[in-house]
Amino acid sequence: MCHDRHRAHQMKRSIRAYDAVALKFPPCLLSLSSAAMLMMALHAGPAFADTTLPMPSAFQTCAGCHSVKPAENFDAPSLAGVYGRHAGTEPGYSYSTAMKNSKIIWDAATLDAYLTAPQKVVPNNQMAFAGLPDPRARAEIIRYLRSLSNN
Ligand code: HEC
Repeated sequence: MCHDRHRAHQMKRSIRAYDAVALKFPPCLLSLSSAAMLMMALHAGPAFADTTLPMPSAFQTCAGCHSVKPAENFDAPSLAGVYGRHAGTEPGYSYSTAMKNSKIIWDAATLDAYLTAPQKVVPNNQMAFAGLPDPRARAEIIRYLRSLSNN
């Protein structure tokens, strides 16, 4: 695991800003953390825009029914990875026919509409939730859901 310590050390020298952070770790971790940081530096851009955000308070109502852990389906499907995928396709969850047939792809626009008025957007779906009238709360939730997804 330490075989690339030397290379990582060289990287570290060339990225001075990271020295202070990297020095806090023992050598083995140092090489790992330096490599990780270098990758972050190289991939700066959209790939890192989707780092998981803290759960917004507006999501508390959703969390009563939905997990955000992958594949953890309670009475409602997990919302991990929901952003960017087809509605009604979380494996292992038994959706209503309405949701399965909705042909929606969850993105900022479709989520915003659905969370405003779930029964209008997917009539007869089984989500017992009247809707979230506050646009700011919806936007926060959608940003959060996006951060939980690679899509
Ligand atoms: C009372 C429980 C409950 C609450 C509260 C709730 N949901 Fe749901 N939600 C469900 C159920 C059940 C389904 C599956 C609906 C179906 O199959 O018709 C669902 C489906 C969804 C889907 C579609 C998932 C998919 O895989 O296609 C999204 C997105 C969603 N909910 C987001 C939210 C968000 C965001 C909130 C909070 C604003 C929320 N839900 C609040 C129970 C709930």
